[in-house]
Amino acid sequence: MLSIDIVSFSGICVVIRFSCTSVVTRLQGLLSGCTYYYKIQQSSGQEVAESQVFNFWTITQSQNKVKPQKYLVYGDLGQEAGKPTFPVLKEEVESGQYETIWHVGDFAYDLFDEGGKRGDHFLLEIEQIAARIPYMTSPGNHEIQNSFHHYGTRFSMPGTTWPMPVTKLWYSYNIGLVHFISYSTEVFFSDNQVHVCKQYDWLLRDLTEANENRDKQPWIVAMGHRPMYCSNRDIREDCFGGPLHYWVRNGLEDLFHSQGVDLIIQAHEHSYERSWPMYREEVTAKNYINPEASVHVTSGAAGSFEGVDKMGKPEHWSAFRADDKSFHSFGKLIIHNQTHIQFIQETVKPRAELDNFWIVQHNHGPRIQELDCQTGEDPLNICRCPALYHYATVSIVVGITVPIVVLVTLFLTVYVCRKRGRCRCFDQTICCSKLYSWNSWTVKFKSKKYFNPLEYDTYNLVATKDVEL
Ligand SMILES: [Fe+2]
Repeated sequence: MLSIDIVSFSGICVVIRFSCTSVVTRLQGLLSGCTYYYKIQQSSGQEVAESQVFNFWTITQSQNKVKPQKYLVYGDLGQEAGKPTFPVLKEEVESGQYETIWHVGDFAYDLFDEGGKRGDHFLLEIEQIAARIPYMTSPGNHEIQNSFHHYGTRFSMPGTTWPMPVTKLWYSYNIGLVHFISYSTEVFFSDNQVHVCKQYDWLLRDLTEANENRDKQPWIVAMGHRPMYCSNRDIREDCFGGPLHYWVRNGLEDLFHSQGVDLIIQAHEHSYERSWPMYREEVTAKNYINPEASVHVTSGAAGSFEGVDKMGKPEHWSAFRADDKSFHSFGKLIIHNQTHIQFIQETVKPRAELDNFWIVQHNHGPRIQELDCQTGEDPLNICRCPALYHYATVSIVVGITVPIVVLVTLFLTVYVCRKRGRCRCFDQTICCSKLYSWNSWTVKFKSKKYFNPLEYDTYNLVATKDVEL
């Protein structure tokens, strides 16, 4: 039996006492702007284990309040490599300034290691912060193993059941002036295409509703693990070139752009990078005043066991980036009011500001005004899931299509050659052509040399004499 006792309270907040049989429960009846103190008891027969007393606070739900809302944001935090970062995060949280933390994927390295002991140690490391403010999460590639089992059971997020099923690793909620979205980039890299479209359909509905509530939540901030854009050297990564890359970008960028997502926060690259407002690699402006496209931030340097991901060639859309200097750093998102937000990236050792920028937006809302999925107005073709953008799907399509195209081409070539009776074909692959009127056939090889087949062993493909023309 597990119970949570609210042992004290501040202000006019009510006392809540309840017990539950699950490790997950919903606290109801909480008032805004209160600090609650609580402890957790676990009883098994006569034995009772008890936690220390923690406290958490609820935010003040007032549209007009002056106090900015602050959020801690980072990704790629390891249980060992993150050791320098944990005490700083704890210190920040204990300052009482923050509403939530966002950990944008890649936990512990890895949660399932040593039969889950690594995950246990990681949760102990973050206990002092996660017990005080909501520890909000997004899944990363290091959580994929065993269908996200450790991720799904160790965390519980709103809008989805617990354990979180692999069919619903995405959610959203409103805090103050922001509609936050957590999406899973891993749907594009796991083996079930259906998750790509499930999430896409949900995102389309969620963003459509969020746009109807812009008067209450003018800002939309989306978080997902793998970045759509990066200028690191990691040429194998999804955000870095290649015909079989850009799954996340091709799968979601049009949707986020059309629906007016203001800020996209990502991780995965163990560095820090900020883009200008951009869409499809086009920079819309080299400032953040009323941006006409989403701004991308990659903050994946909280402490990965893999170290730093070095930067490569600078990209025209990249406004600021840091590799070595960013290692052991985290972000602070500050919502000042309806029109101004600020993002600060701060290093742990030394405690210093690495980056600091503001976004000013007076024109919140969707960016494609003529879009209406009900009436079929869909200039960017976003009303339907772009099913092609999925690793497994494209691999299968390419794996099947390419050999078929090659075989059909060869077959037709040989067939046409023979049908015309103009040539003999060697080895069923090389078709000869009658190039000269002399009474012999010639075959053109890549070497630019010509062979006289009359002096050629056609069965063993061994030239007996090389005739240079
Ligand atoms: Fe990652």
